[in-house]
Amino acid sequence: MSGEFYSGKQVAGFVTFLVLGTVLGLGAYQAGGRLSGAGGEVTVAAAAATTTPDGQALYAGNCAGCHGAQAEGGVGPGLADTKAWTAADFREAVLNGQHPSGRTLGTVMPRFAQTGLDGAPATDAQIAAIQAYVKTLK
Ligand code: HEC
Repeated sequence: MSGEFYSGKQVAGFVTFLVLGTVLGLGAYQAGGRLSGAGGEVTVAAAAATTTPDGQALYAGNCAGCHGAQAEGGVGPGLADTKAWTAADFREAVLNGQHPSGRTLGTVMPRFAQTGLDGAPATDAQIAAIQAYVKTLK
């Protein structure tokens, strides 16, 4: 019995192993971070390049509760008539509550120029996408 559990050589080897492992691990971690960072940017760029508002999702989230899932009506009227409206007329009704006839819509109908859509200011493209979606309904 020498009384030692590990020789000096063994301890040195073990320490080297630990240090190398840490360095390699950190390197891999940083490389991974850079890679996933680059991937994230690519995804964001791709999403921005192809942003067409999803009329169906916008309608479901902001309109269907009152106008019905198929725009058949509910709290608010069915929207079949509005399919023939111009984009500008539809926008004016949705944003500012102005019916093409000049009548001001009742205040139950939100003024989306004030409320926004999904918590962000409503864009013309979003309103056009909603009208396009309504036109696909019966
Ligand atoms: C809180 C309920 C409610 C929500 C949500 C709502 N509306 Fe309305 N909407 C109404 C009511 C009620 C009227 C009828 C107002 C009137 O005639 O005075 C109306 C009227 C309309 C009209 C005029 C229809 C016509 O023929 O006169 C359009 C267009 C319209 N809404 C579109 C939308 C769109 C698009 C959304 C979603 C972005 C939406 N509404 C969300 C309640 C709502």
